[in-house]
Amino acid sequence: MHLKNEMFHEVPKTEEQKSHQKVTVVGIGAVGMAAAFSVLAQNVSSDIALVDVFENKLKGEMMDLQHGSRFLKNAKITADTDLSVSAGSRLIIVTAGARQKEGESRLDLVQRNVEIYKGLIPKLVEYSPETTLLIVSNPVDIMTYVAWKLSGLPKNRVIGSGTNLDSSRFSFLLAQRLNVAPTSMHGWIIGEHGDSSVPVWSGVNIAGIRLREINPHAGHEEKDAENWNDCHKEVVDAAYEIIKLKGYTSWAIGLSCADIASSIFENTNAVKAVSTFVQGIHGIDKEVFLSLPCVLNANGVVSVVKQKLSEDEMAKLHASAKLMDEVQKGLQF
Ligand code: NAI
Ligand code: LAC
Repeated sequence: MHLKNEMFHEVPKTEEQKSHQKVTVVGIGAVGMAAAFSVLAQNVSSDIALVDVFENKLKGEMMDLQHGSRFLKNAKITADTDLSVSAGSRLIIVTAGARQKEGESRLDLVQRNVEIYKGLIPKLVEYSPETTLLIVSNPVDIMTYVAWKLSGLPKNRVIGSGTNLDSSRFSFLLAQRLNVAPTSMHGWIIGEHGDSSVPVWSGVNIAGIRLREINPHAGHEEKDAENWNDCHKEVVDAAYEIIKLKGYTSWAIGLSCADIASSIFENTNAVKAVSTFVQGIHGIDKEVFLSLPCVLNANGVVSVVKQKLSEDEMAKLHASAKLMDEVQKGLQF
């Protein structure tokens, strides 16, 4: 092109430099686009590839984001229905799949989403053998196990978004009651991202002062006169409530994906409640993925915090593990 040749003096190229921050989002529905936008808007990555089976929506979302590039540090946004567009991804966020309709549980989605993963995961890993998978599709703990089995990747590089979202909801609700910032309200939810999640009441604290030092029954289903456990009930009901109101959830899970991605890309060793392989931890003998507080850095999940759980919390965690194992036994893949 004459103008370009007159404008620039080309410097001889060595090999094409790849960005080391490429993120692919597979499934660009409500959750996938919330995750993509969060990753871009929070400058976690400026190199995003979008994948979906709906060509028109894919092209529309790509163009709409590209037109905002200058507001996104000149981000590079690509998209294709062909998985090759994901090649060289450092992180692949997988949100492809069916979502709950009103009245459906997350577990009701499992076989539909396993079928989708069988066609996706092996090819994604072929194009990006060094990638870390961040699994979001529900039931996310089961789908993380399925992705691990299908990918052949090491456990530290197959991560489920898990209860990072539940813990954020929990902290927000507790913080509202005590009029502090959610980031100053330390409350962990572990186990299954869903109906059998486990609130670690024994550890809920502000500035190291545990609620149970003041109210020994805080969070107890029967004995707590202040009904703190209502906060956990609201967490479990949150998705059903929002799905009833707007049809799906998206923004908080999208932000949760960016939160997890930033710990990996910035190599921070931050501790997040994400779904990881828990066999051999807390006496769990099943081959299952559940959320525990994990140290996250450039290598994915590098360690798991050995929380001191109460008897009741341990029993609930084991019940979650048993439930996941039973569902996994019924899978065809
Ligand atoms: P959605 O229906 O809006 O988007 C799903 C997208 O996946 C669609 O665009 C669809 O075309 C695409 N898709 C389906 N099969 C595909 C394939 N083989 N390859 C590429 N793309 C494919 O659904 P939404 O609301 O975005 O939810 C997605 C998933 O995320 C659901 O399973 C939902 O339950 C889950 N979710 C998980 C959360 C968590 O905390 N882990 C929170 C919210 C949703
Ligand atoms: C949630 C569901 C959809 O938003 O997993 O928690």
